Amino acid sequence: MVLRYWKKNHGQLPGTLVLGGSESFFRKFALCRKFANIAHKIKFRHKLVENQEERMAYEAFKTNVYSPRSVLYPCCGTDATPSKVFDNVINIDISPSATLAMMAAGYNAITMDIKKYKPAEKHDLIVLSNSHVRVSDVLDYLKVGGYVLSNNWTHSAEELWNQPEKFEIVCCITTIKKRAVILDEHETRLHPPGTDVSSGFGYGHGFYVFKKSAD
Ligand SMILES: C[S@@+](CC[C@H](N)C(=O)[O-])C[C@H]1O[C@@H](n2cnc3c(N)ncnc32)[C@H](O)[C@@H]1O
Repeated sequence: MVLRYWKKNHGQLPGTLVLGGSESFFRKFALCRKFANIAHKIKFRHKLVENQEERMAYEAFKTNVYSPRSVLYPCCGTDATPSKVFDNVINIDISPSATLAMMAAGYNAITMDIKKYKPAEKHDLIVLSNSHVRVSDVLDYLKVGGYVLSNNWTHSAEELWNQPEKFEIVCCITTIKKRAVILDEHETRLHPPGTDVSSGFGYGHGFYVFKKSAD
């Protein structure tokens, strides 16, 4: 009865997409597509990334190498994977849509250019996963004795590898057949970043682990 009253006085129900008989078939088709696209964008915008293989690598690091107290994830995008494993993660990205989605899901996130970041205290782990900034832009934010977990998507692992006076190579953590595998320092030296693309070391789900030995 309420519905009948509403329809009589206001026409169509609120929130209903009306495609009148006078619309051409193509116009109806275009309108339907437009609404489907908007709905998809809203859903997609709030969808965070959680990569299971990377999660295994982070867990293997935490259990076998070091359990950090304060983690910086620059260029986080919408990747919530480190926050699922480590406590006290600060996620930073220049894109507000990424950081808003992270905040909406309850994660610590800051919208800013990472080069302008001023940490109250230096971190003891930096995660560089598909980072878009130069490694040199973030290294000041890491304590001496702290660690960097870096893949080589934007050559960040190569940059670290080429600074032996500041960074010790600790190991490489990758996943093979859905299991985390840790290569010791000797084995890792046989697979420098950028030379072993096909095996996946340092790409995608693999991380090189470095320890900062000097400022
Ligand atoms: C390829 S995405 C990687 C996202 C995420 N790390 C992942 O693996 O899914 C690179 C991200 O870096 C961010 N970015 C680029 N330059 C930046 C800067 N100067 N400061 C902070 N974030 C930046 C972009 O907005 C983008 O979200």
